[in-house]
Amino acid sequence: MPYATVYESCKADPEAFWMQAAEAISWDQKPSKALFADDAPLYEWFSDGMLNTCYNAVDRHVENGRGDQVAIIHDSPITDTITKITYAELQTRVASLAGALQAKGIEKGDRVIIYMPMIPEALDAMLACARIGAVHSVVFGGFAAAELAVRINDATPKAIIAASCGLEPGRVVHYKPLLDEAIEIATHKPDFCVIFQREQEVADLIKGRDFDWNNFQSETPDAKCVSVEGNHPAYILYTSGTTGAPKGVIRHTGGHLVALNWTMKNVYNVDPGDVFWAASDVGWVVGHSYICYGPLIHGNTTIVFEGKPVGTPDAGTFWRVIEQHKVRSFFTAPTAFRAVKREDPKGELVKDYDLSGLGQVFLAGERADPDTILWAEAKLRVPVIDHWWQTETGYAIAANPLGLQRLPVKLGSPAVPMPGFDVQILDDNGAEIAPGELGAIAIKLPLPPGCLPGLWNAPERFQSSYLETFPGFYETGDAGYKDEDGYLYIMSRTDDVINVAGHRLSTGAMEEVLASHKDVAECAVIGVADALKGQTPLGFLCLNAGVNRDHSEVVAECVALVREKIGPVAAFRTACVVERLPKTRSGKILRATMAAIADGLDYKMPATIDDPAILDEIEATLKGLGYPRN
Ligand code: COA
Ligand code: AMP
Repeated sequence: MPYATVYESCKADPEAFWMQAAEAISWDQKPSKALFADDAPLYEWFSDGMLNTCYNAVDRHVENGRGDQVAIIHDSPITDTITKITYAELQTRVASLAGALQAKGIEKGDRVIIYMPMIPEALDAMLACARIGAVHSVVFGGFAAAELAVRINDATPKAIIAASCGLEPGRVVHYKPLLDEAIEIATHKPDFCVIFQREQEVADLIKGRDFDWNNFQSETPDAKCVSVEGNHPAYILYTSGTTGAPKGVIRHTGGHLVALNWTMKNVYNVDPGDVFWAASDVGWVVGHSYICYGPLIHGNTTIVFEGKPVGTPDAGTFWRVIEQHKVRSFFTAPTAFRAVKREDPKGELVKDYDLSGLGQVFLAGERADPDTILWAEAKLRVPVIDHWWQTETGYAIAANPLGLQRLPVKLGSPAVPMPGFDVQILDDNGAEIAPGELGAIAIKLPLPPGCLPGLWNAPERFQSSYLETFPGFYETGDAGYKDEDGYLYIMSRTDDVINVAGHRLSTGAMEEVLASHKDVAECAVIGVADALKGQTPLGFLCLNAGVNRDHSEVVAECVALVREKIGPVAAFRTACVVERLPKTRSGKILRATMAAIADGLDYKMPATIDDPAILDEIEATLKGLGYPRN
């Protein structure tokens, strides 16, 4: 059906559209209606329906004859292993783990933190929580203990499920010591931990608190699926906000299932039984929606890939996986393709593989630069589709919905809004602005099913972060424009969030860490353009009077401190010492101007600048560091 017809039918009658989409989900009790608007501007979907996520993702497929179909392929070039798990096996694994959790007192609504690498047990753990109505919060393995501790304090989990270690190329990530340290720092303590021991590093268990994954489930009965309300939180996922404290995005069960299931065919163009691969990590929203829940709810085979685009063992890994497992739709970040392109610019390795089964590729997580899209299209000879979304929405706000209609591609644009998203470009006063003009990107409320209904433990922050700037709208935090055909262009963030290798990070959080260094009086962190990672963080440090040791020592300590406090994923490697920071007369640091200088872009001298001479000092310092680099 043409995209425009579908989009307009949803706009004209969202109730009918989403109730129809909800038919594809198995409900224990059907919802009486789709939208619940009594608390507007807070909205919920399918609140009075009853259902279970795990039943929809696993059990119903077994009941419907898909028991022998492979549900999960674990492909780990790092350990050189491939493991396949059928839907029937997945049901057994998940029911067993869920039963053990239940036997240890985990009940509907209890929080469980999951801290695991890219192994199928991570999905077992997510689905086991869903099976018994527990609310999981998965924490990405590249975060440091202190970040894990912040999430433990906020989510107050009764249990933590972790693995003994993760494997990065050439490096073992010691999950268990990180977990122990996080629990030590946290003020909230979990009742118990379940540890999956990997053979690459067997961790010491703390008696009475830690249980071995296998022993833990050896004598407990399997769990049945617990029916939950449509507005029961399926999970909490923390993401970077405008201050150091991460925001706990809540996802409600009913809308989550309905929306993800709708996208699998209409956006990603796969049918049940097809193999779908999102090369992300379960710690990110892409991993939640498109490694775990979306493909499984829809009866697809999903791939859990423990490797990197390059170096495991080479830049042909993606193509090997696509051929070997007959991937139909592939989803990755532009950074990953840039990494492959850097190693194999001519795409020689593509020729070694038969990619005839591949139908299309999707890119998200950061702006997809036209060069990368053109390179991928030329080498792979399939449509390469940019689509735009956020942790908050859980799925694409804008895309080229290949399963509905293949719209013309416009390079630099993630195409058009998906049904239910009324995307508008607003000026500072909240008025819609003309096509072609840059403004804040906002979405008219209500957001469609599956998007965040609120923030965990922070209802006021939810209002102030998203709903207050433009009453009646959700503020995306992105800036951009629409063209005459309604195609969107996502240009930058309006807050301090930067995007490093497709990972969303807060410069505010890095500044908080830098400011805690004893020699640092004041600091600023900006994102600068990077040919591989899109952006990388760059720190400016003003030191306390009297600090007369070598500045490079202080810089090295600051770099180490960010790694220790936030984690390696911050990729904070460069900082410089400056005398002064450029500020407005009211004392606001001019970060955007500094970023423009670092990137070699033209900029307007801010009218409110206190002392323009400081910009010359910044430019000279940056020049000394080799900026602009592109
Ligand atoms: N656990 C522990 N550490 C991790 C980690 C994890 N899950 N993921 C990344 N890290 C570490 C890396 O080992 C690296 O550590 P190092 O400083 O010791 O080298 C650091 O975090 C930075 O990682 P990254 O930014 O990923 O850089 P890289 O140089 O290791 O790899 C790419 C570059 C392009 C290959 C890689 O960033 C990549 O695959 N990007 C795609 C990202 C993606 O798919 N995002 C999903 C969004 S949809
Ligand atoms: P995350 O919540 O980690 O998914 O990051 C969401 C943010 O990443 C968005 O608000 C954008 O700033 C950026 N982003 C994601 N996808 C795209 C895209 N296709 N084009 C441009 N920016 C994107």
